[in-house]
Amino acid sequence: MTKNRYQMTVAGLAQTLGMSAVDVASASAKTESGPIDKQPLAPANVKALLQARGVDYRFRTIAHINLRGGIGKTTASTSLALRAAHYGFQTCLLDLDPQGSASLAYDALPEPDDPIFYDVWSKPEDMLTPALRQVDDSLYLLPSSLENSMLDSAMANPGLQKNAVRNSLAVLQARGFDLAVIDCPPSLGTAVISTICAADIVVIPVWSDPFSLKGLELTVGEIQAICDTFGIPAPAIRVLYARYDRRERISERTLDYLRQHYADLLLPDIIRTSSEFSKALAKRQSVFASRRKNSAADDYDSYVRSLLNIKITPSKPEDLS
Ligand SMILES: Nc1ncnc2c1ncn2[C@@H]1O[C@H](COP(=O)(O)OP(=O)(O)O)[C@@H](O)[C@H]1O
Ligand SMILES: [Mg+2]
Repeated sequence: MTKNRYQMTVAGLAQTLGMSAVDVASASAKTESGPIDKQPLAPANVKALLQARGVDYRFRTIAHINLRGGIGKTTASTSLALRAAHYGFQTCLLDLDPQGSASLAYDALPEPDDPIFYDVWSKPEDMLTPALRQVDDSLYLLPSSLENSMLDSAMANPGLQKNAVRNSLAVLQARGFDLAVIDCPPSLGTAVISTICAADIVVIPVWSDPFSLKGLELTVGEIQAICDTFGIPAPAIRVLYARYDRRERISERTLDYLRQHYADLLLPDIIRTSSEFSKALAKRQSVFASRRKNSAADDYDSYVRSLLNIKITPSKPEDLS
């Protein structure tokens, strides 16, 4: 396991969800001495607590796609997967980008003989689970390397493209995972087509650069075209403003543009520009590893809670006795 170590505490979860520390304390792993509100929380206990309060852990798949590179797909994927695991989702991140940036972020690049998606897609029943690396409590990774760029030639047949990612997800679901997160390359190759056929939600990260907005338009169009071609329902599409700098007028203008043209798709949660992302990446840590409060962790926490619908319904009166 990596230095992403889990940092959610009784007080942190209680504050984030607007619950009392007493309510949350029952989920404490009680592994450290000291005051109860500083105790770390085990994901399985958080899941039991939140499930009892109405949070839905039914299996789903969320992919980050934009035909433009460098705009936060990998940051969003690694942050979503890790934070979801903190909230008790048994999570698997499938790294499908031959660049392996998500694998690098988790400090889990594959060794030359380690299986990657290219090796497992045709026989996921046997190959997928042994290929997964555990990177944190409740968080697993299928790492990626350059060989995944050969998927395009290996999977030229549309029927294979339609089912390759789906078949792997079926294995994850059968193995008890709650969430699959897919980090995609910035292209319209086989991995992205197969992901579009399999995802429940496609999140398209954007920022103020015109190429990313063009990428947004193309990605939305392609999702519809691919689903029409295969005769399958399209996944839900969400747009994430993944790098917002309020000091720049262009950020404001871009936000206005998105509100005008993508009102139905735009997520209310916006990720602000922060140096925490590059600092965390340099240390192969996540933005959640720091005990210091920072906007990067706060913004991605809000994103994850709204995407996974982590809202707390008030306790029934009898629960308070
Ligand atoms: N909100 C942000 N503020 C500052 N830097 C960011 C932000 N989001 C991402 N980055 C940085 O931008 C770079 C590209 O992000 P990445 O997630 O790798 O994009 P993609 O996967 O789309 O290529 C990385 O160095 C990452 O740390
Ligand atoms: Mg990437």
